[in-house]
Amino acid sequence: MTTDELTPHGAEQALTEAKPILRVEDLKMYFPVKSSGLMRRTIGQVQAVDGVSFQVNAGQSLGLVGESGCGKSTTGRLITRLYKPTGGSIEFDGRDIAGLSEHELHPLRRDIQMIFQDPYTSLNPRHTVGSIVGAPLAIHKVVPKNKILPRVQELLEVVGLNPEHYNRYPHEFSGGQRQRIGIARALTLQPKLLVADEPVSALDVSIQAQVINLLQDLQREFNIAFLFIAHDLAVVRHFCPEIAVMYLGKIVEIADRETLYNRPHHPYTQALLSAVPDVKQASVGGRRERIRLEGDVPSPINPPSGCRFRTRCPIAQDICARVEPPLLQVGPTHKVACHFPGEIGKHPEKPITPRLLGVDDSGTPDLAAGPATDLPTGAGYSDSWFDLENNTMGKSTP
Ligand SMILES: Nc1ncnc2c1ncn2[C@@H]1O[C@H](COP(=O)(O)OP(=O)(O)O)[C@@H](O)[C@H]1O
Ligand code: SF4
Ligand SMILES: [Mg+2]
Repeated sequence: MTTDELTPHGAEQALTEAKPILRVEDLKMYFPVKSSGLMRRTIGQVQAVDGVSFQVNAGQSLGLVGESGCGKSTTGRLITRLYKPTGGSIEFDGRDIAGLSEHELHPLRRDIQMIFQDPYTSLNPRHTVGSIVGAPLAIHKVVPKNKILPRVQELLEVVGLNPEHYNRYPHEFSGGQRQRIGIARALTLQPKLLVADEPVSALDVSIQAQVINLLQDLQREFNIAFLFIAHDLAVVRHFCPEIAVMYLGKIVEIADRETLYNRPHHPYTQALLSAVPDVKQASVGGRRERIRLEGDVPSPINPPSGCRFRTRCPIAQDICARVEPPLLQVGPTHKVACHFPGEIGKHPEKPITPRLLGVDDSGTPDLAAGPATDLPTGAGYSDSWFDLENNTMGKSTP
């Protein structure tokens, strides 16, 4: 199957017209770094998530991809409000939940659930499967006590487990089965949004596809929106019609699936894709060429100035160290944060951003370049965008 076959006709239109269930704007999470010793003073901050904006449409899935440590789990934990954000807004079903107290969050906990990466540590070993899956029903008092067991058995069946096994303990199940228990627990309260944090990374390759297929079936059947977190682009490819790529706490590219896999414009996305077998974009001149990223991901305690990817970017220039590239919309459902956005091998020689940012080509503030343009920075897509062919702002849908 090719990526083209996977993209339903009119997917772009569906993305621009869909109704968001979740709208995240300028989300930030800084963790304090404490000194050792008795005083434990704050000596720095881990900028785990730093100004992230995106939206998830009702009943759809957004993939969130990036190397380990780029802030994916923190983003998931902010949305499920396991953490309170340092800044930004999290609009769920039309209401900002970023600042709500635990008490105010209680009713919302039904609607937003999380599936965790590790099915071994995320289930309490001392509780039976029945009490793990049934606990949310008891806490939220959604069904009378005598209805809990039948409901639990129904859920076990939905996720492909034997309903008679409700009395067993997690250690009696395999990794794949445990993940199914975690999924049943997440489904118990019929959530509107599921945050799935690398739900198959800890599983054997042979059972990953089964669990992904299960999630996909459940999504269709119950019309649940997904934020699907993964560390590579292969896993989300079949699941998500829209994908966001993160690097060191920021989104560097976000687009509909067809665009992201076939015409990525950010050097980081291009490098990630070159590691995925069987993707057209990675073939340059008929040969598949793996783009190797030099060096390690820098520390989020002291991230590089300007573009955070510049220390590993094969095409970085002076401006990249001086000015942060904005996440600029360059197509109806495509945004990219790079001064030199372009398809692989076709990156422009000069930066496209100076006139928008009021700087010269090296990134030095320049009065002749005019004042910085007010660029849209929010979640979702605008109906006008930067036209890369003419280097002008304001092309819009006909
Ligand atoms: N509770 C925490 N306290 C301090 N630093 C954290 C905490 N959680 C995550 N981090 C740091 O934030 C960064 C992002 O982590 P995480 O969101 O887990 O990334 P990912 O899920 O993409 O691997 C990492 O540098 C990690 O070490
Ligand atoms: S802004 Fe510069 S360093 Fe960053 S990805 Fe683009 S070219 Fe590379
Ligand atoms: Mg993680």
